[in-house]
Amino acid sequence: MEKQKLATRVGQIAPFQVMAVLARAKQLEAQGDDVIHLEIGEPDFVAVDAVGDAGVSAIQEGKTGYTSATGLPELKKAISEDYLRRYQVDVSPERIIITPGASGALLLMASLMVNAGDEVLMPDPCYPCNRHFLTQVGAMATLVDTDAKNGFELSLQKLAGYWSEKTSGLWLASPSNPTGAVLSRAYIEEAWQKVRSLGGHLLVDEIYQGLVYEGEDFSALSVADDIFVINSFSKYFAMTGWRLGWIVVPEWAIEGATKLAQNLFISAPSVSQYAAVRAFNADVLAECEARRQTLNARRRVLLDGLRELGLPVVAPAHGAFYVYVDVSGITQDAMTWCLALLEQEKVALTPGADFGVKDAHKYVRFAYTCDEERLKQALARIERFIECK
Ligand SMILES: Cc1ncc(COP(=O)(O)O)c(C=O)c1O
Repeated sequence: MEKQKLATRVGQIAPFQVMAVLARAKQLEAQGDDVIHLEIGEPDFVAVDAVGDAGVSAIQEGKTGYTSATGLPELKKAISEDYLRRYQVDVSPERIIITPGASGALLLMASLMVNAGDEVLMPDPCYPCNRHFLTQVGAMATLVDTDAKNGFELSLQKLAGYWSEKTSGLWLASPSNPTGAVLSRAYIEEAWQKVRSLGGHLLVDEIYQGLVYEGEDFSALSVADDIFVINSFSKYFAMTGWRLGWIVVPEWAIEGATKLAQNLFISAPSVSQYAAVRAFNADVLAECEARRQTLNARRRVLLDGLRELGLPVVAPAHGAFYVYVDVSGITQDAMTWCLALLEQEKVALTPGADFGVKDAHKYVRFAYTCDEERLKQALARIERFIECK
């Protein structure tokens, strides 16, 4: 019998380097070491109790079947009302397609707007899975060089130069993973105007929306109805494992997106959807706001500590829960440095190579997803590590 082979696209996907860090961290913990985890892009909170309780009730009441493909009408309505209340933007519920996480939304977006052979521009560094969603549809990501001096912002002046007849669109994220940088309204306006004149689509991944500490927390939907926007319950609502997100599409794309949602997922998880309806009540939003303030306090501790250590933060860390740090003053290889730091001082970080190509060996990402005390301990351990090198 012929030997069975994996599809070639599987070979094109590089495993995350942080997995090696994580695997070693687990071994160290199994042997009793106290590892401080600053590598994981996941809040250290769980869903607010009222939301969890709503999920339990949904199970008890047997609300566990498929929902309509684009999501529960009451959830779509709640999201629509939230856009109006918090971001003063009118988004009709019909334009909101509920998906299994932002991941599901990204796959739907690639399937909806990108043809095989197309290219999509995105900044280097950015969220690594974007590239692979494009691979699934036979397309390709083109990582655009950015400059650390400009906070890794993709230069819109140079956009036309990167655009080719194969380019389908531009994918941005604000706040950004891995840098925490927040794009300004003026930037999104200019990006939209340029992308439109080049005949492409613009996607803004707003999965860290709400987690903004400096600058304007706005939605790209307030700039134009024809911009595609992705969001999720994973980060602001701390519901990573509930696997629930959404995409907002323009009116003209609703029918196509609905067909894809039906075929790709049938529906997003029903229990999660019933729980998520509760997330937009004032008490839950107040708790999420308190958490945002907690994250902001941690961010300040981390930024102060890094400054004292002389480690440059290379992008304005104004949002999400990440800080992107230049370690090239102490190492030529961030991945090896991360592994040595873990081995010696039991602090886990994510190497820059997981997010980009250009100069990635210079950078590491810190996630401030542990409390201030632990962050201070981590900084003290890093200081000791640097000093004894
Ligand atoms: C920028 C960005 N987009 C999308 C995702 C996927 O999130 P999820 O599928 O949990 O909603 C992540 C996860 O870390 C992310 O950082």
